[in-house]
Amino acid sequence: MAQKIKDELSGVETTGHEWDGLRELNNPLPKWWLYIFYVCIAWSLVYYVLYPAWPLGSTYTKGLLGYSQREDVVQKIAEAKAGQKKYLDAIAGKSVDEIQKDKDLLAFAMAGGRSYFNENCAACHGAGGQGGKGFPTLADDVWLWGGSTADIYQTIQHGIRADDGATRGTPGTGMTAFGKDGILNREQIDQVTDYILSLNKKQADPAKVAKGKTVFEENCVACHGDQAQGSVAAGLDGIGAPPLVQSNWLYGGDKANLVETITNGRAGMMPAWAKRLDDATIKSLAVYVHNLGGGK
Ligand code: HEC
Ligand code: HEC
Repeated sequence: MAQKIKDELSGVETTGHEWDGLRELNNPLPKWWLYIFYVCIAWSLVYYVLYPAWPLGSTYTKGLLGYSQREDVVQKIAEAKAGQKKYLDAIAGKSVDEIQKDKDLLAFAMAGGRSYFNENCAACHGAGGQGGKGFPTLADDVWLWGGSTADIYQTIQHGIRADDGATRGTPGTGMTAFGKDGILNREQIDQVTDYILSLNKKQADPAKVAKGKTVFEENCVACHGDQAQGSVAAGLDGIGAPPLVQSNWLYGGDKANLVETITNGRAGMMPAWAKRLDDATIKSLAVYVHNLGGGK
């Protein structure tokens, strides 16, 4: 047993432990540190008694206060739901137009609509409804099926060319496959394509444009309108034919894409949501889409 001696340099007594000539000084803990340590021990004992603390197999000590974080969360969710219910009931009972006119309801529907949109629609229509090839932009003022609140509501409820009794458009039909179905030959398709390019002030062969105009008048105006303004602008119901004079093409406005569309046709399909989402959700979505920028 080593001797307890005073360290010469610091004047502090050593503990008597020594390793290879190094001695351990016997410095007590600072008082403030020690007291905080005791307070922590006392605090933990009180906490053990008052709050849930110790696991006991499948259960645990509940503590004298009976506090439960889980019940706390359940209660908070119930409170939030009750708060929302007021708005959801109001939304369900009003038309989309009426919701737009009520400042509080509008704010609530917009917030909900944005999150429902991200969940259900953004995969096809892009975040913020910017669209993509075959998926229309919902944030501009070009509408295939109408941009009023009632139109948008109907589109979301029943979809487009979907298997739903009240759908817009017939499943499987849309833009006729003029080439594949043998209605127009290659030359005529080439001509009408140049005519559309010329309408859009793009490079086109004048001789083809003149012939293409006739092809267009004979085959396309019934759906796309006599000015190629699209079925909605031409006042033609239930067709969904886009304008052919524009910059934001559904399938592409360059020569190759135009030829492809006219040769093989297109039939975009939008699912029906009436059976998947409740009415308040669909109305919130209609409000959100209508306010993306292009609502009429
Ligand atoms: C599976 C892909 C898909 C999903 C998911 C989808 N859509 Fe669509 N949507 C389409 C397609 C394709 C069209 C265009 C149909 C056509 O060519 O006429 C369309 C068209 C629309 C239109 C009509 C646009 C116009 O110009 O008239 C609206 C409005 C719309 N969608 C809203 C929604 C909303 C809201 C949701 C989410 C609840 C949604 N869509 C989910 C594919 C989808
Ligand atoms: C029976 C109606 C109908 C006729 C006739 C018709 N179209 Fe279409 N067209 C449509 C529909 C509907 C769409 C949209 C398809 C979709 O949404 O998937 C469309 C889409 C298009 C597009 C794609 C537009 C874009 O934004 O990408 C082009 C181009 C087009 N049509 C050209 C023509 C030409 C040229 C003719 C005449 C030779 C013609 N269409 C005749 C119904 C028609």
